[in-house]
Amino acid sequence: MKKVFLFAALVIFVAACQQSEPEPATLKNAFSEKFFIGAALNTSQYMEQDQRALPIIKNHISSITAENDMKWMYIHPRPDSFYFDDADKFVEFGEKNDMFIVGHTLVWHSQTPRWVFEHEDGTPLTREELLTRMEDHITTIVTRYKGRVDGWDVTNEVVNDDGSWRESPWYNIIGEDFVAKAFEFAHAADPDAELYYNDYNLHQPQKADAVVELITSIQEQGIPVTGIGMQAHYGLDYPSREDFEASIRKFEKLGIVAITELDIDVLPSPWANQGADVNMRAEGGDRMNPYVNGLPDSVQTKLTEQYKMLFEVMLDHSESINRVTFWGVTDGDSWKNGWPVPGRTNYPLAFDREGQPKPFVNEIIELVKSE
Ligand code: GLA
Repeated sequence: MKKVFLFAALVIFVAACQQSEPEPATLKNAFSEKFFIGAALNTSQYMEQDQRALPIIKNHISSITAENDMKWMYIHPRPDSFYFDDADKFVEFGEKNDMFIVGHTLVWHSQTPRWVFEHEDGTPLTREELLTRMEDHITTIVTRYKGRVDGWDVTNEVVNDDGSWRESPWYNIIGEDFVAKAFEFAHAADPDAELYYNDYNLHQPQKADAVVELITSIQEQGIPVTGIGMQAHYGLDYPSREDFEASIRKFEKLGIVAITELDIDVLPSPWANQGADVNMRAEGGDRMNPYVNGLPDSVQTKLTEQYKMLFEVMLDHSESINRVTFWGVTDGDSWKNGWPVPGRTNYPLAFDREGQPKPFVNEIIELVKSE
C-alpha cells in the first residue's frame, strides 16, 4: 500500500515538474502580437529537405519569401513558358504551415532574362510591347496565386542611392510610369493582395525621400500601394538609430512598412578599403575573411547590440510594421558569404551554421516580453 502511495506521489511530482517547465520561447510566438517574423527560403528548405533549417522554420517563422524561385529568370525563363513547379511547392509549404506568404519579385532589373526587353533579332521592344509583356507576366503569376500569396514585392530597386531613377531597361523603354503600371496590373489581378515597393539603403535620406515622392504620386492617381519594403541589408555600424527611425517615420505615412530582407554583415567592406593600398589584392584573402574559425565574442557582442537597436526601433513602430523578414535561415545559407567578396565566412543571420540561435535572439525575445 505504502509503495503504491509513494509511486503515485512520484508520478504526480514528475507531471507537475513537466507542467511548470516553460515552453522554450520562439521568435514567432514572442512577436505574435507585434509583427510576423519572416525568412527567405531556398528551394531545399520549402521542399523540406534541409533538416537543419526545417525545425527552425517551423518553430520560429511565421512569414516566408522565396529567396529566388519567383524571380523572372526562374518562373518565366522563356517567352512562352512559365515554370511553376517550385513556386507552387513554396506556396503549398506556406499554406501547410499557416504562414504569411510573400511573392518576390515581379518587376526588377536583375535576375531578369535579356529577352524580356528584346525582339528575337535583339532589337529593343517598344514601350507598348514591353508594357504588354509586363502585364502578361504580372497577370499570369498574380492570378495563379490569387488569394494564396498574401503580399507581392511588385517593383524592386527602382531608385538610385542619390534619389535619381535607376536607368534600367524598364525605365529606359517604358519611362517613369512603369512603376505605376506594375502596381495597376498587380492590383487588377488580385485586388486583395498587399502590394509593396521594395528597395535597399532606404535608411539613406535622399533615397527615402525619392521613394516617398514616387509612391505618393502613384497613390494620388488612385492606384493602391500597400507600403514600402525596406530590404535592410545592414552592417555593424549602419544604419544609425536616427536614420533607421527617420525613414520608418517617412514610410509609415504612406501605409504599411515591411522589413523584407534583414541581415547584418559582420565582415570588412571592400569598398572602405579601396584606394591607395596597392597590396590589397595580395593580402585581401585573410584580411577580408577574418573569422573563418568562428566569430570572436567582441564581434558577436556588436552584432547583438546592432540587432537589439533595430528591434527596439521596430517595436516602437510595430503599429505600422507588419513583418520583419530575415534574408535566410542559418548563416551558412546567406548570400553574404558570397557578396561582395566571394567565398567568405559571414555571420549575418539569427541562427548559426549549426542551427543554434545567436545570443541576440534571446535578447530580442526578452525585449518584446518586457513591452
Ligand atoms: C536583393 C534582392 C533579393 C536578393 C538580394 C541578394 O536584395 O531583392 O532578392 O537577390 O538582393 O541576394
